[in-house]
Amino acid sequence: MKAATVTSETVQPAAHLRLVSDRAGDAAGIKLSGVSKTYRTRDGDVPSLRPLDFHINDGEFFVVVGPSGCGKSTLLKLISGLLPPTTGEILVEGEKVTTPHGNVGIVFQNALLLPWRNILNNVMLPIDMKRLPRQQYLDRAKQLLKLVGLEGFEKKLPWQLSGGMQQRASICRALVHDPRIMLMDEPFGALDALTRERMNVELMRIQRETRKTVLLITHSIPEAVFLADRVLVMTERPGAVAAVYDVPLPRPRSLDVMADPVFTELVQRIRKHFFSQGALD
Ligand SMILES: Nc1ncnc2c1ncn2[C@@H]1O[C@H](COP(=O)(O)OP(=O)(O)OP(=O)(O)O)[C@@H](O)[C@H]1O
Ligand SMILES: [Mg+2]
Repeated sequence: MKAATVTSETVQPAAHLRLVSDRAGDAAGIKLSGVSKTYRTRDGDVPSLRPLDFHINDGEFFVVVGPSGCGKSTLLKLISGLLPPTTGEILVEGEKVTTPHGNVGIVFQNALLLPWRNILNNVMLPIDMKRLPRQQYLDRAKQLLKLVGLEGFEKKLPWQLSGGMQQRASICRALVHDPRIMLMDEPFGALDALTRERMNVELMRIQRETRKTVLLITHSIPEAVFLADRVLVMTERPGAVAAVYDVPLPRPRSLDVMADPVFTELVQRIRKHFFSQGALD
């Protein structure tokens, strides 16, 4: 009975592509067609991603899970325009991605703060780079820092903060210019469990209020199900789409949803993909 409430579609890439290309407003969101990546190294080729076809809808919270080394960070770098794909094409809001897109905020797996800039000025980096009016965004930067519990640390240098605090600052940096699209690579990996839950709830609230399109990568299956409208499960390297699951849990969601049978059942179902590949979270 419960199984009927959880819908899943095991995606055959070509079929999924047909499905989405029939939809109106196809130009919005993020669309991948035949996107693969092979790193050319001195020791030979490293196939990292097999051809991927999927579409992230405008305003969707889309989460990718997959085993370590399957190509998740590579996928994010391709979509953000920092790396060229080996084959295929990526469209962000209908435009082919060739360079980093102005309307995208990125949170990398490492905080990557500039060591010579204080925390506030690290958060302000996209504003300075885009030459936006500084004064107008300063309050927003401070509000974001407050939101993630970093009030009072504005003048500190990155090395004076813990890894988790640096990562929270990098989340503020990705949000400060209010991008329509957020790409986040394990943004909460360095946080303790309680802060992580609080950040999950905050991120969900921000996404809901601003209708941003979010692509988030995580190792944690419960985190994926808690946050996502859809969860894409990747295979081992070279990564391919193993399945895409709809998350039929109503919003707004509170942490209590984790006790819901629909939640636990979906977590179990996704976990089964990894039984042969070792634990994910
Ligand atoms: N610059 C690079 N040159 C060569 N190979 C690379 C490079 N970056 C990544 N790879 C390889 O591509 C594969 C995918 O790496 P990637 O960082 O995308 O994995 P991941 O899924 O993000 O892993 P994790 O969950 O551990 O962060 C790995 O086997 C890695 O060794
Ligand atoms: Mg990674």
